[in-house]
Amino acid sequence: RRRRPRAKAPFGFTAIEPQPAGTDELDVPDGFSWHAIIAWGDPLFRGTPRFDVDRQSASAQRRQFGYNCDYVGLLPTRNPHRAVLVVNHEYTNDNLMFEGYTGPDSLTDDQLEIIQAAHGMSVVEVRRRNGTSGWTYVQGARLNRRIHTGTRFTFDGPGAGSDLLRTSADPDGTSSLGTLNNCAGGTTPWGTVLSGEENFNQYFVEPGTGTAEQTAAWERYGIAGSTGRGWERIDPRFDLGQEPNEANRLGWVVEIDPLDPHSTPVKHTAMGRFKHEGANVTVDDDGSVVAYMGDDERFDYMYKFVSHRRYRKGNSWRARRHNKQLLSSGDLYVARFTGDGAQDRVNDGTGEWIPLVVDNRSKVPGMNVEEVLVHTRLAADKVGPTKMDRPEDVEVNPVNGRVYAALTNNSRRTAAEIDEANPRPDNRHGHVLEITPTRGEHVRSTFSWKLVLIAGDPDDPGTYFNGYDRSEVSSISCPDNVAFDGEGNLWIATDGNALGDADGMYLMPLEGREKGHLQRFLSVPAYAECCGPLITFDQRSVLAAIQHPGESDAATYASPASLFPYKGDPCPRPGVVEVRPDRRKRTRD
Ligand code: FEO
Ligand code: CA
Ligand code: CA
Ligand code: CA
Repeated sequence: RRRRPRAKAPFGFTAIEPQPAGTDELDVPDGFSWHAIIAWGDPLFRGTPRFDVDRQSASAQRRQFGYNCDYVGLLPTRNPHRAVLVVNHEYTNDNLMFEGYTGPDSLTDDQLEIIQAAHGMSVVEVRRRNGTSGWTYVQGARLNRRIHTGTRFTFDGPGAGSDLLRTSADPDGTSSLGTLNNCAGGTTPWGTVLSGEENFNQYFVEPGTGTAEQTAAWERYGIAGSTGRGWERIDPRFDLGQEPNEANRLGWVVEIDPLDPHSTPVKHTAMGRFKHEGANVTVDDDGSVVAYMGDDERFDYMYKFVSHRRYRKGNSWRARRHNKQLLSSGDLYVARFTGDGAQDRVNDGTGEWIPLVVDNRSKVPGMNVEEVLVHTRLAADKVGPTKMDRPEDVEVNPVNGRVYAALTNNSRRTAAEIDEANPRPDNRHGHVLEITPTRGEHVRSTFSWKLVLIAGDPDDPGTYFNGYDRSEVSSISCPDNVAFDGEGNLWIATDGNALGDADGMYLMPLEGREKGHLQRFLSVPAYAECCGPLITFDQRSVLAAIQHPGESDAATYASPASLFPYKGDPCPRPGVVEVRPDRRKRTRD
């Protein structure tokens, strides 16, 4: 019916049809196969117990792969058949993990400890037999590491040591335990991984006894009343009545060094505190390091960080030590987008980065630098940035140097609230925004921008596929994470398809004859979200995180909606899959 799509290299494929959201199947194009590299509960160390859903323990979970995978990074090593996989574990589906779950009150203390241990991150070495075989993980490898709520982090940057970070366990405000709700992330040019602490609000009880300032901040960050998680029952730091500053110790960008399993991971206060989706770094010609970041909430903002010090090339120990401090000191900005009008029939215009912190000094009236960095949302509110439709992953295209931001959706935007960068009321399907820095320099404070995708059913004339014929493209809803292949094509993973179809992964070329020709590459199992995504460094495979398979209101431990990855367990196990072209059947255009 539709003309055969002609994808650019490296993945020539025929777009797959959508599948209903409840279909418990992982679908990839003809000529491709998938396998799970690792899934929830897989043992990471020598002697770690194998996964057994009916015999879980916190001590085992601290040594096993965690739950709901989000960000996926793959770092090459000197050996081309060995690499390091780094994965975020954003949150847990407690109702699918434990038999007899009826709500947070039904959880035992042991189960709450297991749940905490299933959050965080995993670092896992992977290997392959040769250049055409798939990756498998290596139990007991030297670099394997689990980061969980017991892992110690240090704060650095101008906010470290602030009164706002001090607790009874940490009277200096310089270190904290754990990282939570890690959503997207990015791999830096110096081989570390950045990870965003997103919806940390859900773990805290708000006691109603805070000062006016505390209460205003808690409200702006979505902390209200009871958690629904029950963590305060085993760990009083999650009760803000007892530790009012504990919530200020989450909501940061964290940096971990996967190549040094004994390193202490860092929370970078210079990059501000909000519901961090992630952070992606690029290096300007002058060596300045620029990070782009989204704050994933309806009507929240996009941010940019510019390092004070310059990137040092090379992989030497000295260069890495220098580069690992680049995100400790820099200037922080928030974005304002101005449209140039609808007459040109394109959603585009110009924009500027409004300074919040410059030279470690506040640019926000009435707030000092510590307040700006800890309460960044409140600071940004004062300088007039553009309220966006849930800014998620923001990433620089390494081929064309432009920046791409997934704006997932915003069903609460009214017709009176639309602007050219967020052009639809009741935006249920989201869009993708492209930023072109002035003169290609990311340090500059101005840019131009354009929406390259307005998602939805392509039969809807309100959708837009970068000018491509809408009759030739796949439907797409709720772009959430973005990635690029070696030719600069945009890959998009979705979360929350509002068309009734499964979430998945899509390829959309950004240049040439196929520009805007969006094609569905993957559909995830029942009620999962597609995360990652990652085109591996050798352009030979696609990695995807299958997050929250089986997450539907009706699903329980006893009747799960998904059994992904279909290895005989009675429950779904979120995990990371690799998709590769079949060697013989590979389709070429
Ligand atoms: Fe964890 Fe913004 O999705
Ligand atoms: Ca326009
Ligand atoms: Ca997400
Ligand atoms: Ca990404």
